[in-house]
Amino acid sequence: MTTATAQVDLFTPVQVGRYTLPNRLVMAPLTRNRAINNVPQSVHQIYYSQRASAGLIISEATQVSPYGVGYPDTPGIYSAEQTAVWQKVTEAVHGNGGRIFLQLWHVGRISHPLLQPNGELPVAPSAIKPAGEASTYEGMKPFVTPRALETEEIPEIVEQYRQGAKNALAAGFDGVEIHSANGYLLDQFLRDGANQRSDRYGGSIENRARLLLEVTAAVVDVWGSDRVGIRFSPSGSFNDMSDSNPEALYRYLAEQLNGFNLAYLHIIDPRPGEDKFEIGTRFFRSIYNGTLIAADGYDKASGNEILAEGNADLVAYGRLFIANPDLPKRFKLDAPLNQYDRSTFYGGDEHGYIDYPFLEESLEESIKPSLA
Ligand SMILES: Cc1cc2nc3c(=O)[nH]c(=O)nc-3n(C[C@H](O)[C@H](O)[C@H](O)COP(=O)(O)O)c2cc1C
Repeated sequence: MTTATAQVDLFTPVQVGRYTLPNRLVMAPLTRNRAINNVPQSVHQIYYSQRASAGLIISEATQVSPYGVGYPDTPGIYSAEQTAVWQKVTEAVHGNGGRIFLQLWHVGRISHPLLQPNGELPVAPSAIKPAGEASTYEGMKPFVTPRALETEEIPEIVEQYRQGAKNALAAGFDGVEIHSANGYLLDQFLRDGANQRSDRYGGSIENRARLLLEVTAAVVDVWGSDRVGIRFSPSGSFNDMSDSNPEALYRYLAEQLNGFNLAYLHIIDPRPGEDKFEIGTRFFRSIYNGTLIAADGYDKASGNEILAEGNADLVAYGRLFIANPDLPKRFKLDAPLNQYDRSTFYGGDEHGYIDYPFLEESLEESIKPSLA
């Protein structure tokens, strides 16, 4: 006799680390460049609390150090002032019944002297200039050749993550996500296109993974493993990233991280036809024992599909959450979605940030013309 098991979908509650989440929709981390001079504003409270019906919110990437800044008006978590405003954000999200993790960030070479304290060179694993341009307060500028970190400086980087994790705890977040994706500092150490060091942080896969594993241990020390996640983009070449053997690299990472009992790993999946490597959530599922969040390009149908296959436990939505503060409700009701406006993604005022309508309002809007 076979017993029918209810199929898991986006609305099946799920345990993530120490939290039971009411649904499996995660708000993906989204940089919005509205934290004036790296300090979040009161408008952040509105923006995040509007989206509190997500099973889990992951904050926009947030610098652990002034040296980790790579764009105008992205928030930090290294000063008392920043921490105090983040506390108001977490209170607002909790007030609306949500949960929010902070994404811990250091951009490494994806910066520019114009964004660095005292106009210094950005730091990186190796002095390799990425192709492309940095976004500064004075407009786009070609990337510079970064300064390779000395071996003796690496413990300071680990300490910056530890302090950022402590500040996030003080600010009332529910957990933290270590940003090890998209070509920023930790990703630069992982992949040999950016890391050509000859010390214990470069060369072999074990050595390239060392900084991430040290940072993970430091952050887990602060938070406990069940409130810490890590984000990877194994297939992404964004920010001029490449690796000679990504399959071996991410296999090693998944195996090592099995020992940490983390809240989750968050995987940016390859874009068919766009990304060079085909390593995503399904690859991790075959090696990694814990909870997996899948991201990139999902809609309701494809989100439900990867959950039903058993290849992911949650699905992150980025652009759809920008435009739909009540995305879970809209998915649940199969209601129409607001369209996102790319021109207001990065920077600007409240428009395109906190004024996307909730379902009731947009239905009212669509009814109004017929009443006129
Ligand atoms: C405006 C914008 C800002 C983003 N900022 C971040 C970020 O701060 N940290 C991060 O890990 N990914 C960031 N991403 C990537 C998203 O988290 C997500 O992976 C991507 O949007 C693909 O998911 P989607 O198709 O659901 O939008 C950003 C994407 C967009 C569009």
